[in-house]
Amino acid sequence: MNLEELCEVASTCVKCPLHESRTKVVFGEGSKNAKIMLVGEAPGKKEDETGRPFIGMAGRILSEIIEEAGMDRSDIYITSIVKCRPENNRKPKKLEYTTCIDLYLNKQIELIDPDIVGLLGNSAAYALIGKKNIKQIHGNTYELNGRKYMALFHPAAALYSRVLLPQLKEDMVILKKAVEQ
Ligand code: URA
Repeated sequence: MNLEELCEVASTCVKCPLHESRTKVVFGEGSKNAKIMLVGEAPGKKEDETGRPFIGMAGRILSEIIEEAGMDRSDIYITSIVKCRPENNRKPKKLEYTTCIDLYLNKQIELIDPDIVGLLGNSAAYALIGKKNIKQIHGNTYELNGRKYMALFHPAAALYSRVLLPQLKEDMVILKKAVEQ
């Protein structure tokens, strides 16, 4: 199955309870040949309405730090650990993210085969590499099953604490350098 076919399958998914709260499935977008893949937590309101990842306030910050690091957002593939918005933007539950990762994210990673997967925030870092405490692990790279991962702050963190913005930018530069090596 290719990426378009997988996206088509996901668009009518009812494999976990999140399908009840979603408007549109937010599968992911970006280059199919991306060297960098970014994985967030879950679609928010704007994403749910449009079906596009990271287009709300956190998305604006994400675009800004990608550009400031000297990259083009369209060269990166962007998605989240769950493709459907949880009600009231609550955190996705274990059953929800494990189901979604198993059905979609792992296949997206396999098909795109990026040089590195950037994990945005605690939820993505915990779900994919089992690491907690983003404050301690951001900027670190990890290798798991032959795949390289790096933990970064979630861009929404900068909405609550502007002092994190420079840190976010620094993380994005580290991520860029990791693929240049
Ligand atoms: N936050 C996420 O983690 N993912 C999105 O798609 C939007 C906001």
